[in-house]
Amino acid sequence: MSLIEKRRLGKSGIEITKLGLGLWAIGGTEWGETDDKESLDMISAALDLGINFFDTADIYGDGHSEVLLGKAMQGRREKFIVASKIGWNGFDHEKGVSVYTTVDKLVAGVESSLQRLGTDYLDLIQCHIDFREPNMEIYVAGFQKLQAQGKVRAYGVSTSDFEYLQEFNADNKTSTLQIDYSILNRTPEKDIFPYTMAHDIGVLVRGPLAMGILTGKFTRTSTFGEGDFRQNWVRNEKENQIFQNDLDKVQKLEPLANGRTLAQLAIQFVMQHPAVTVAIPGAKRISQLKDNLKAALLPELTDDDLKVIDSVTPPGGGRKIWPA
Ligand SMILES: NC(=O)c1ccc[n+]([C@@H]2O[C@H](COP(=O)([O-])OP(=O)(O)OC[C@H]3O[C@@H](n4cnc5c(N)ncnc54)[C@H](OP(=O)(O)O)[C@@H]3O)[C@@H](O)[C@H]2O)c1
Repeated sequence: MSLIEKRRLGKSGIEITKLGLGLWAIGGTEWGETDDKESLDMISAALDLGINFFDTADIYGDGHSEVLLGKAMQGRREKFIVASKIGWNGFDHEKGVSVYTTVDKLVAGVESSLQRLGTDYLDLIQCHIDFREPNMEIYVAGFQKLQAQGKVRAYGVSTSDFEYLQEFNADNKTSTLQIDYSILNRTPEKDIFPYTMAHDIGVLVRGPLAMGILTGKFTRTSTFGEGDFRQNWVRNEKENQIFQNDLDKVQKLEPLANGRTLAQLAIQFVMQHPAVTVAIPGAKRISQLKDNLKAALLPELTDDDLKVIDSVTPPGGGRKIWPA
């Protein structure tokens, strides 16, 4: 039995652990090279250690992340709660339209994810894009059709745009929101979290480690390898200044790391917000997974801890980390 607390995923009613695993990096693109054997071992270790929630997308490594998760699930699908996303594949950035111009095309797109994952259902499908016209209606109608067919148990949306979320949820059938939230980005606390709580929308927190910044492992002179999009953070003076400011903030958090790692502190912080259902830190190797997992087993942050965090980023303050 898992020692990790389980929570209800919004109106889907699905029970998931408050810590999940983000599977973008294991796709092997955008975050530098990864090793498939290590990724598979990491997914198995996560399951063995009590995590039941896994977040992937059709676009991560052009489907490779889904394929790996499918391999890891072989013969034990029922132990996994699987969330995927659709929207960025073939997206026309100039026109702001996705290739899914009809409900049937959208349904076929999700069926491709099911094939890669080697399963006949997804627990959660999420709209990965937040371009209003004419995509939104197609996504909502497509997801509802897939739900009626039993191919997805619930659907949601990934966005930081409050208006988009409200429109997406106009009929109040959206079960989840995935959003960037961390000690460096507390903006969802203002309007979005009160809304999700009022509408029984489960919240999946991406970027809880601010893409690694909040682990404290980067230094003033850190560089990023070939194929790692975090190169953007140091590519010019303006970006680099933002990165340096973030490092100043991380330094102020160090006294709180007493007996825990900064990564654990960062993950604890997001899991503790009453609007949040699950934090889905990404990881590339088992050592990172194990470090992050302990966050789910520690006692909650104290009011004094939270005061220090408020002095670094005030409630509702900060900025979105992605796009970097
Ligand atoms: N639009 C969307 O819907 C969207 C966007 C972004 C992310 N996501 C989802 O959210 C998940 C998590 O977000 P994220 O990956 O952007 O950011 P994150 O969780 O804030 O950071 C994850 C990265 O930090 C590093 N890391 C993780 N644990 C660590 C530890 N204990 N010590 C040191 N370094 C550690 C790893 O990269 P290195 O080892 O390379 O530093 C890892 O890939 C993704 O995997 C994906 O599932 C969704």
